[in-house]
Amino acid sequence: MNKAKRKAVIAGNWKMNKTAAESAALIDALIPAVQGAGCDVVICTPFTSLVTAVEKCAGTNIGVGAENVHFEKSGAYTGEISADMLVDLGVKYVIVGHSERRQYFAETDETVNKRTKAALAAGLTVIVCVGESLTQREQGVTEELVRLQTKIALGGVSAGEMARVIIAYEPVWAIGTGRTATAEQAQEVCAAIRKVVGELYGADVAEATTIQYGGSMNAGNADELLQKPDVDGGLIGGASLKPADFAAIVAAAGK
Ligand code: 13P
Repeated sequence: MNKAKRKAVIAGNWKMNKTAAESAALIDALIPAVQGAGCDVVICTPFTSLVTAVEKCAGTNIGVGAENVHFEKSGAYTGEISADMLVDLGVKYVIVGHSERRQYFAETDETVNKRTKAALAAGLTVIVCVGESLTQREQGVTEELVRLQTKIALGGVSAGEMARVIIAYEPVWAIGTGRTATAEQAQEVCAAIRKVVGELYGADVAEATTIQYGGSMNAGNADELLQKPDVDGGLIGGASLKPADFAAIVAAAGK
């Protein structure tokens, strides 16, 4: 596999953190910290910070993303946000299928697929999250499960659209726990995901698809994880709220 064929992408997932004013201050610190990065840099903020983030990041190397999107274009879906609404703001990326949404907000593989297709149709780049729980890992079904999640998420997505799909492997047991997957575990599953993408779209698309690892990635462990041949970047939670830590991860990905 040739890592040069794909973009390294480090994306921050801010989750439900930061008011708009706090976001502005964080972005002011992030801009100089990641200037000249050797990889793509993205911050995914709460909906309420997107306007601020797009304004602040204009003309910088930081792309802005949302953390979720609804699959319908418009209508009676109180509290939801459509892909067109995000595009209209200047948002370029969206996270879909994060395990916290699967766990707390009844997200299913089917709705992940619907959101992925709607976001792609609107022109967004989609970060599709997949990953197993601790029980599933202990049952030895990680690879089967992640294959299935990936296949269902990508149902109806064309080979051309795959240029705007990033897949994030996030083992649920590693998220926010300080318990990172070993570099070997991350590599094993990211390689399995690339294999499925290859089965669906062929080797060229598989080699060009960015596959991230996420789950307690930090300044101390990023280097080892990102050196693995199939780990092309990271989806960063806690450490993305700390400019120096996020910058160190970005620097590791740019090597
Ligand atoms: P942490 O980096 O805080 O473990 O979160 C990872 C994550 O869920 C990113 O989407």
